[in-house]
Amino acid sequence: MTIVPPHEAACFETTKRLLASLINEGLVSGVIEEPKEESPRRLHLRKNDCRSTEDDSVVVHTTPGALIEDRDGEVLPTLEPSMLCSPIILTCTAMQKRVIDPGEIFSFISPWFEGLASPSILEEIARHLQNSGSNQVTQEDIPAMLTPGVTFLSLPRSQLHFAGPFDDALQPLLQTLGIPRVSENRAVVPCLTQQLPSVMQRFPGASILRSVIDCADAQASLRTITLRPELKFPFHLKLSLACQITSALRTITPWSAQGGPIVTKIMDQFLPPDLWTFREIAAVTGNQTEFDDAKHLSCILREDQEERTRANNEVLIIAAALNQQPQGTSQPYAEILFNLQTIAQKQEWFQKYVECLLNLLLPPLVNHGIGLEAHGQNILARVCRKTGKIKGFAVRDFGGIRLHTPTLRRQGVCFDAMFPGWAVMTEDMNDVWGKIHHSLLQNHVGFLLNSLGLQRNGGWRIIPIQQETSVLCVKSTV
Ligand SMILES: Nc1ncnc2c1ncn2[C@@H]1O[C@H](COP(=O)(O)OP(=O)(O)OP(=O)(O)O)[C@@H](O)[C@H]1O
Ligand SMILES: [Mg+2]
Repeated sequence: MTIVPPHEAACFETTKRLLASLINEGLVSGVIEEPKEESPRRLHLRKNDCRSTEDDSVVVHTTPGALIEDRDGEVLPTLEPSMLCSPIILTCTAMQKRVIDPGEIFSFISPWFEGLASPSILEEIARHLQNSGSNQVTQEDIPAMLTPGVTFLSLPRSQLHFAGPFDDALQPLLQTLGIPRVSENRAVVPCLTQQLPSVMQRFPGASILRSVIDCADAQASLRTITLRPELKFPFHLKLSLACQITSALRTITPWSAQGGPIVTKIMDQFLPPDLWTFREIAAVTGNQTEFDDAKHLSCILREDQEERTRANNEVLIIAAALNQQPQGTSQPYAEILFNLQTIAQKQEWFQKYVECLLNLLLPPLVNHGIGLEAHGQNILARVCRKTGKIKGFAVRDFGGIRLHTPTLRRQGVCFDAMFPGWAVMTEDMNDVWGKIHHSLLQNHVGFLLNSLGLQRNGGWRIIPIQQETSVLCVKSTV
């Protein structure tokens, strides 16, 4: 067996995601060779509308037996990163070159996107991709990421912008931890200890009151933390973290901090009762007019749902975790927890899961123009402790949702209190559908389908029927 050096393995993790996304998002065309038994096939990525074999292309191999869907050789947008394997070869008239670095691949294909994005944006994307391949977390980084330190700062109120009852809601935690009191013209704001260098250079009036270790655990998003149960604090803290993790710099803009409590009220009004909300009740952010500075010190207080879940005899399971496998095994948690042994059992469970999910997520979309960012990290399944049945879901995180303002305005929603220019507010319904397509269908449902091995067992065929049914049901009631 070939041992792949860690750096190469890390690069390929990014590279295969890049290549799959380019095809799934329709940014390039993918042409696949005819299948030959179980052997790997070659997939050619080319500039859209260039089908000639003379053209520049990126050639990647597919894993033996990967179920690649195509129409006349043109790959359909259901490609999974796990279907791809090395080697990857850049081909043009002048050369053939074996590559692994996602940045190098993107630089090679950048000319294909002329007119779609400026050269400087394309260069920046290439740099990000290269960076993503080169800077992977190592084993030693993990403990500090899972239990991050929290620092409590004192700042002049004039440097801060508040939304909702931030001071009052935070007060019990400050008391329990014995954080010193501050004068009336100052406020106490928690931040991740790791974030201090970013904060201190942008908030000259900040002083450290206390840093606390071992008081909180990071959630899957890393920047949102759950305080330890003995602290009895009923809110999660979402805190700025100036690290690029997956697609974004994980700071929190004033738009999101200020908008959270307002969006929460919209959700209270329009989401179905079985779709619970991790309500954002208050927040603080920087008061600078330059949001790029202000976003480095934000904190959102988000209601914990554990109490409510226990009272309902339910447990909450983060949807993304259902696709994961215990280390060293190949069976996903969905199969282990729900005792799914046969294909038929998996299909039935998956069908019910998706039906419940779509019946809760699509009515807000169709009736109110609300597109939640329903990927597996933002959605938690509510499971009955007694029967193991999915009773509904809970949703968190409003920073990346889409709200169709014309529809919601017609239904009495006022957006005046939000900072203008927030990407969440859109007049284009395609933005809202796009958000649902990517986060709910491709990410949440698609990942679950694959992890259960249903892709080759009728999986996607189950979904469109369900989806259409629920959309139609909803439309017919409007
Ligand atoms: N299945 C998944 N899909 C998308 N992101 C995931 C998934 N599993 C884990 N993640 C992680 O979760 C984060 C998703 O980003 P997102 O912007 O939704 O969350 P966040 O805003 O950082 O935090 P929160 O959800 O607490 O508000 C990223 O850090 C990503 O690495
Ligand atoms: Mg999230």
